[in-house]
Amino acid sequence: MKKLIVAIDGPSGVGKSTLSKLLSLDLGYINLDTGAMYRAVALASLRQGIDAKDHAALKQLCEKIVIEFVRGEKEERVLLDGEDVSAQIRTPEISLLTASVAACPDVRRAMVERQRVLGADGGVVLEGRDIGTVVFPNADVKFFLKASSEVRGQRRFLELQAKGVDVDLARTISEVQARDIADTSRTNSPLRQADDAIVIDTTDLNITQVLERMFKVIAKFRQS
Ligand code: DC
Repeated sequence: MKKLIVAIDGPSGVGKSTLSKLLSLDLGYINLDTGAMYRAVALASLRQGIDAKDHAALKQLCEKIVIEFVRGEKEERVLLDGEDVSAQIRTPEISLLTASVAACPDVRRAMVERQRVLGADGGVVLEGRDIGTVVFPNADVKFFLKASSEVRGQRRFLELQAKGVDVDLARTISEVQARDIADTSRTNSPLRQADDAIVIDTTDLNITQVLERMFKVIAKFRQS
């Protein structure tokens, strides 16, 4: 069977990570969470006291740091220079900072280059904002997921709460909305639906329902 490049794009909190993990597990594909790469850059910049507007320093930082994905006991772990930072990159502070760091063209160039190398051989599910438009415009299958910001904020809130993080619902929704603005309004690779993407509105769907739809589409492409 053909080893596909599957692109999943969409705004934050739309279910990309969960769906991408489940899809890749089932298909026996590599799962590439590109948002985690930008988050790792943001964490590294915070630790080194680099301002998100200092593009020259961010460029240098990207040349130095090593970001790796390793299989943990339960789930995939993200390593920054060998240190497991999977939890540190998910705080609300890092989420907000990442939106600014990801707007830097040099950071995007460096990350896109790494993503293309990692996905080049196919058999990969990549999730992010610009996979179908910039990273792999020729991806075999492109999904664009969407859902209302209220529903996405609510999902994020429950996710953080389950992890024991002290969160506020209204604040989580406005953070999702702030990130939407940052992701869609940046000049460099803004979040945008590829013309040939298959759009799924997940507002009223659960994960199983969305997965079913995605599998149906993928099955067709795998045989063609
Ligand atoms: O998917 P996520 O919430 O972990 O993404 C974190 C941030 O990184 C978010 O602000 C969007 C940005 N991002 C991006 O600009 N391009 C990608 N391919 C993936 C994420």
